[in-house]
Amino acid sequence: MKMGKGALQALVILALMAGGGFLPAISISGDPGTPGLAILAPSKGAPMSAGRALVIGKATGEGMRRVEIDVNGKGKQSVAVAGGGFSAPVHLSSGRNVIRARAGGASAALEVAVSAKGGYAYHKPVEKCAECHGSAGKGYSVKAPKDSVCYRCHGRMDGKKLVHGPMGSGECTACHDPHGSANKALAVSRHDLLCVSCHDQKSSAGHIAKSRGKACTACHDPHSSDKVYLQR
Ligand code: HEC
Ligand code: HEC
Ligand code: HEC
Ligand code: HEC
Ligand code: HEC
Repeated sequence: MKMGKGALQALVILALMAGGGFLPAISISGDPGTPGLAILAPSKGAPMSAGRALVIGKATGEGMRRVEIDVNGKGKQSVAVAGGGFSAPVHLSSGRNVIRARAGGASAALEVAVSAKGGYAYHKPVEKCAECHGSAGKGYSVKAPKDSVCYRCHGRMDGKKLVHGPMGSGECTACHDPHGSANKALAVSRHDLLCVSCHDQKSSAGHIAKSRGKACTACHDPHSSDKVYLQR
């Protein structure tokens, strides 16, 4: 992430106030000791099917040794935290389901809708955390470039002449959720919103209007292409 001009100025001012020297006590990225609890999978509002589901979460900070998990206040269980992450199998039943996690004074809640239609899919090897993360003892953070994790199993997708921006920096997870998703191809958002989350809708408006109803990927390869403008 690039630092904005304002943030840089603020840092300079802080450094000046501290006597001109660089003080290691000034933390830019936040206090790593602050308890942090988040549910990573399933995703918020995900359309789920009834039955067994796997909750994957992040738990970092002091006192995060175990996480208490329940669904709609029922079926409480306690799972161990290892390397700042945890997972727990839960049972979902028809209707509104609130998955709640608590640890070290922090809590996180996630609502999912459970119906016969479902739609959310886990990435196939999701239960084998070590396939992507190695042993949990080393923690779950995935260092850039993240594509080196993906290419352990998937063929390279950046072999053509023109490589799409986020692919160049290995950011597969800019578009794909590595744990699961309700969208086709495990996309992080609906396909019609995915591309315009980075591309100005106005600059593409002309040719999109001409091809009304067509998906962006009908004409563009999201990974790499031998043709200009990443055309298929
Ligand atoms: C197919 C590969 C893959 C599998 C399998 C997988 N993960 Fe992940 N996981 C990732 C990637 C890639 C990221 C980084 C996402 C990002 O930063 O964009 C991630 C992120 C995380 C994070 C957040 C790390 C951080 O520092 O923010 C946690 C915690 C985590 N995974 C836990 C798990 C657990 C627990 C399992 C098994 C139940 C699991 N993962 C299975 C690929 C995987
Ligand atoms: C341990 C092996 C493994 C790793 C590592 C892995 N995947 Fe997968 N991936 C699979 C398998 C198996 C499938 C299911 C293939 C199928 O059903 O045909 C899959 C499916 C997918 C799909 C869905 C394909 C579709 O047609 O719906 C996407 C997208 C995907 N993976 C992206 C990623 C990304 C991004 C990473 C890195 C963060 C990654 N994978 C890492 C094994 C892996
Ligand atoms: C800019 C967004 C974007 C990025 C970045 C991206 N993908 Fe994709 N990916 C997609 C979309 C969209 C699809 C669905 C393709 C379609 O609709 O034809 C897809 C499809 C896939 C599939 C399904 C098989 C296929 O080729 O259709 C796999 C596997 C996959 N991507 C893996 C990866 C890996 C690995 C990376 C990183 C090296 C990556 N993707 C980076 C958007 C992206
Ligand atoms: C995470 C941000 C991100 C997402 C999401 C994304 N792009 Fe891009 N895209 C870029 C960057 C960065 C570039 C390279 C800079 C540029 O040329 O504008 C690029 C370049 C392109 C280009 C080439 C532009 C040129 O002038 O050659 C096309 C076409 C394109 N993207 C289409 C898509 C499509 C289609 C999708 C959805 C599947 C998509 N992008 C999703 C960031 C993104
Ligand atoms: C019918 C095919 C088609 C569809 C659908 C399509 N494009 Fe394009 N796109 C093109 C062609 C051809 C170009 C080359 C320049 C031109 O003709 O305007 C292009 C150029 C681009 C460019 C680079 C130039 C610019 O306007 O910034 C981007 C970015 C882009 N498209 C994004 C998208 C996105 C995002 C979508 C979906 C919302 C999309 N395209 C849907 C065919 C298509």
